[in-house]
Amino acid sequence: MTHLIAPSVLSADFANLQRDVEMINSSEADWFHVDIMDGVFVPNISFGFPVMEAIKRYAKKPLDVHLMIVNPDHYIEQFAAAGASIITVHYEACVHLNRTIQAIHQAGVKACVALNPHTPVELLTDILPMLDMVLVMSVNPGFGGQQFIPNTLLKIRRLKAMAALVNPDLLIEVDGGVSVTNMPELLAAGADVFVAGNAIFGASSPEGMIAEMKRISASSFSNI
Ligand code: DX5
Ligand code: ZN
Repeated sequence: MTHLIAPSVLSADFANLQRDVEMINSSEADWFHVDIMDGVFVPNISFGFPVMEAIKRYAKKPLDVHLMIVNPDHYIEQFAAAGASIITVHYEACVHLNRTIQAIHQAGVKACVALNPHTPVELLTDILPMLDMVLVMSVNPGFGGQQFIPNTLLKIRRLKAMAALVNPDLLIEVDGGVSVTNMPELLAAGADVFVAGNAIFGASSPEGMIAEMKRISASSFSNI
């Protein structure tokens, strides 16, 4: 599979949201990454259903919804109805993760679990066969534009080896501080889906940056 690019709408210009959504539509991007923050699970508040529904009205690609909220179980049906194709919940926010994943699938949506930088991938051993994707956070969640945490590479390699045994179709997504500089190394480690906010929306040509990210290959990385 060729890797996927999911621009993070958090870095878009909210006063020109339709324009930025259309930019992603006409670009080579694969998904829209939609960050929902509640000010409790993470120290920031992003946006809620009205904004997500406005994105959905114009988006021509799947919405990859990253819930950085406590009690995500309360809102799964509502996010499915608002147009999510993938719902990501945080391992750290779910006491009954198995039940939460079942609820996401029952809503007809793909299920993903996100891990904060300090959470070991091994904690997913028993839930891995149920998942469509794992999101490995490469910054502490809450804000765009932070610096990539290098230990993420080790986590992705370990997760890839775990998935090969029980769920070879599992997608591995990486989110936070992703750029053309660290992408070859992340690809070589086993990442499939690349979320990028600042690297895309801070570029002089966001569409050009997305095209550049699509063209990157693991072979341009050498660890010798
Ligand atoms: C951070 C969010 C990210 C963020 C990524 O908590 O989950 O999706 O928007 O932004 P960059 O690519 O700027 O780190
Ligand atoms: Zn995110």
